[in-house]
Amino acid sequence: MAYIEIRDLKAEADGLEILKGIDLDIEKGDVFGLLGPNGHGKSTLLTCIMGNPHYKITSGSIKIAGVEIVGKTPDEISKLGVFYCFQNPPEVQGVVSMDFYKAAINAHREKPINLVDYYTQLEKAYKDVGLPSEMKERHLNEDFSGGEKKRNEILQMLLLHPAIAMMDEIDSGLDVDAIRSVGQNIVKLEKEGTTFIVVSHYARLFDEIHPNKSAVIINGKVALTGGPDLIQRVDNEGYGFLRDEYGIDISKMEEKRDVVEDVFAHEVGKAK
Ligand SMILES: Nc1ncnc2c1ncn2[C@@H]1O[C@H](COP(=O)(O)OP(=O)(O)O)[C@@H](O)[C@H]1O
Ligand SMILES: [Mg+2]
Repeated sequence: MAYIEIRDLKAEADGLEILKGIDLDIEKGDVFGLLGPNGHGKSTLLTCIMGNPHYKITSGSIKIAGVEIVGKTPDEISKLGVFYCFQNPPEVQGVVSMDFYKAAINAHREKPINLVDYYTQLEKAYKDVGLPSEMKERHLNEDFSGGEKKRNEILQMLLLHPAIAMMDEIDSGLDVDAIRSVGQNIVKLEKEGTTFIVVSHYARLFDEIHPNKSAVIINGKVALTGGPDLIQRVDNEGYGFLRDEYGIDISKMEEKRDVVEDVFAHEVGKAK
């Protein structure tokens, strides 16, 4: 059995079926590149793995190391070692960054972290992501630039050291140096054993992190799986070859709105 095993996963939001039977196997230590045109279900898949209550899983299963996670809460799934990097990290007013990170670390431990250890790790993490550590005093993501928010997501990933990290277009809106920095931190955790699922439209990030496996999501299903070659081909040719060679209908689903993250961010905001 694969480390992450997804079988016939169907999910809907607002009565609209978005995931229409996803099957995916991801092994421990994989860096898995998830591709697909806009609006075909990539973010929905990640948010369903994270247990977003706004998405109703109508059938199928998601197992991590043999444990069924469908029906578990985001909190429980996080404690199993799953981390989700937001595409658009929410601004949380009134919550000081360093307090939030400490609470997150402690939620994953039996005993609270020793404060000296915490500050040492925090300073190192700020250095690793290339942000000034004075930012720890600021409210979480409040008035951060787009790039700072993304680096801040990576900072949290470094502090939590997840078993599985899911990144949803972490590279969108980042400059070249920031993409390189994100890539280096992903590679660092990968070497320490973290399994990655990475959604991106750009070869630049994939060139940094060298995914060993990939899949293309079309219309809520896995249309094709492959390795680095598949990523290269999509980068060179776009998705047209799926239609021409495999007869897969790649026409866009009705474009509604990029609502996945808005909905989850709202939940996170409410929980504060
Ligand atoms: N909460 C929701 N309510 C209604 N439609 C949604 C919701 N979440 C996602 N969708 C729709 O589902 C489709 C897939 O969205 P998404 O998973 O964000 O695609 P991708 O990440 O591949 O670009 C889109 O058409 C989107 O508008
Ligand atoms: Mg998306």
